[in-house]
Amino acid sequence: MSNKKYKIVVTGAGGREHALSWKLSQSPDAEIVYTYPGNAGIPNSISDLQLKGLSFREWCIITNIDLIVAGPEIDLVRGLKNRFEGTGISVFGPDKTAAQLEASKIFSKTFMRKYDIPTADFKVFESEYSSAEVLDEIHRLDGNLVIKYDGLAAGKGVYVCDSIKQGVDAFNELRSLYGQTAPFIIEHKLTGTEVSIIGITDGKSIKLFSPSQDHKRLLDGDEGPNTGGMGAYSPVKSCTDELLERITKEIVQKTVEGISSENLDYKGFIYFGIMMDENDNPFLLEYNVRLGDPEAEVILPRMKNDLLPVILNCLNGTLAESDIENNDGYCVDVVLVSGGYPKIYAAGKSISGLTNPLLNNCHIFYSAVQQVDNVLHTSGGRVINVVAEGTTFEEARSKVYAACEAISFEDVFYRKDIGHRNL
Ligand code: AMP
Ligand code: GLY
Repeated sequence: MSNKKYKIVVTGAGGREHALSWKLSQSPDAEIVYTYPGNAGIPNSISDLQLKGLSFREWCIITNIDLIVAGPEIDLVRGLKNRFEGTGISVFGPDKTAAQLEASKIFSKTFMRKYDIPTADFKVFESEYSSAEVLDEIHRLDGNLVIKYDGLAAGKGVYVCDSIKQGVDAFNELRSLYGQTAPFIIEHKLTGTEVSIIGITDGKSIKLFSPSQDHKRLLDGDEGPNTGGMGAYSPVKSCTDELLERITKEIVQKTVEGISSENLDYKGFIYFGIMMDENDNPFLLEYNVRLGDPEAEVILPRMKNDLLPVILNCLNGTLAESDIENNDGYCVDVVLVSGGYPKIYAAGKSISGLTNPLLNNCHIFYSAVQQVDNVLHTSGGRVINVVAEGTTFEEARSKVYAACEAISFEDVFYRKDIGHRNL
């Protein structure tokens, strides 16, 4: 690589973005890594206030930014990549059309079907459907189905149903939330364990991070309401090398071929949400056009080599020349949340224990914090990711829980069983 030093901005504001900026900052080729808008716990966060009236685009141009790495999907879906065309600033992430792989269930499921990627069978209800047709489909599947609103819904547009009544209720709720002609799909319900397979693609080849798994439910034993993620770990015992080979062949490679055949402008992270059925057959549930959160917080610490050259090669269309090297260790992330999350919770609680030596063994990635009088305070539901590595899974897990006990704020809550399936 040349001696060029890169000025980089990571977009987004949570733990995933903190992990990304932390990883990129270690590159000898990074001059500075900003995060926009970031938060008080992420170094070099740039809030709108600091743009001094400039748009983000204007600020990037004036600051001579070289590279923008997109954190959340929303920026990409709104055309972050398209907006920077002609500026000389590279955006790592798909363009607006390719981001439909996440933003539209109809687009992504149709893509999966076209490229013969194993996924739950489905039916599209695009706009001119009658209630009778929908009810017929709910009855035909005897209520064992999943209804998915077509658009982005921050995790709320997916209804996993067990009965005809639940299916009908979900259909009614979907229409009351998104309108009488809201586009959606109904798909067969699958059962099995989920695994997150995340990689980097330039639309011709793909490199994968180590498999990871998140915990979406609030309570121990995977009970309680869905959340934005209560923790994650990597690698995943149930995702054996043999299974990963099948996933790669049947799902990952076919996706890259599809992206290439459709001429999609896709150079970025790609996330495959996989479900393995009871016979270990992998099915693709969804694509995300970004890193998972909290999966990023466990896969990036396990990446041994420099991420920046991999991103730069990807943008140049020469990803095949790079590798993602994962260490042999284990990584566990436990998310400390505000009591009451994901429903009603308070913010503005002061956080203590952040200088406890137990934290020296860990990575702390901040999700929702603000600074008040030089002290970090909570500013949202998911507050802090405590992440530890170990040469065994048990070691990583005991380190992470020791550190969690050292941190406190009023009504702090966290799951005590992250990674229980790996034990
Ligand atoms: P999606 O946004 O499509 O990944 O759906 C969100 C979550 O709903 C997934 O992570 C699964 O836990 C669940 N889910 C989605 N599709 C199915 C399906 N066909 N069968 C069972 N569960 C599903
Ligand atoms: N952890 C799941 C996601 O990021 O969508």
